[in-house]
Amino acid sequence: MNIIDRFHNWRRKLRWNKQYRRGRWESLKTGKELTRYTTIIRYLTDYGKQNPSILDIGCGEGVLNEKLPKDYTYSYFLGIDFSKVSIEKAILKNFPNAEFQCRDIHNFNPERKFDVIVFNEVFYYIHEKERMNVLQKMISHLEDNGIIIASIYREAPHLWKFFDDTLENINFVTVRTEEELRYWQIGVYCKKGCKENITQMVGSSQ
Ligand SMILES: C[S@@+](CC[C@H](N)C(=O)[O-])C[C@H]1O[C@@H](n2cnc3c(N)ncnc32)[C@H](O)[C@@H]1O
Repeated sequence: MNIIDRFHNWRRKLRWNKQYRRGRWESLKTGKELTRYTTIIRYLTDYGKQNPSILDIGCGEGVLNEKLPKDYTYSYFLGIDFSKVSIEKAILKNFPNAEFQCRDIHNFNPERKFDVIVFNEVFYYIHEKERMNVLQKMISHLEDNGIIIASIYREAPHLWKFFDDTLENINFVTVRTEEELRYWQIGVYCKKGCKENITQMVGSSQ
């Protein structure tokens, strides 16, 4: 990103902080958004390995973590978000085996690999020139037979192309609500060549 892009990114971060401070994103916890989280969780349980390590990019206040079923366990959960306010709120929830760090996606270099990487309503915030770099970096931190789950609001073929070009699609759905224009597309992907292993594991655990 050039200096002007970095400036806009910084201003966006301040805006997110202000919105989280004012409770603007409390709506994410309501029933209107529930189907989005439950679909992501279904992908996690259907295609993710048991007790996985999870990276939630742009995790906000940790709502995905909050929606996980009580009996669902993970070995480690890392949520990152560039909004300090949202991260402080997530930390206060004291989720077990979880860490939340204030990081900007654009220059975040994970220190380990993960079994599951989630882009939940965040991919479109990545600067357009950086989207491929960010995705490639995350793929290089995905364990073999790991999965990437992405949720993107409404139609965004230009964004799904990044996933379709670099990964193998396992499942993809459009999740609708009673409001015609409130819907999401949610996809689950793996590294090329891993789909058979993952779907076989699903078959054998059922
Ligand atoms: C629509 S919210 C989704 C929050 C969360 N994933 C959920 O669905 O519950 C988008 C989130 O992306 C974060 N975000 C936007 N740009 C970011 C960036 N450059 N680096 C890290 N986080 C970013 C925002 O602070 C915000 O928390």
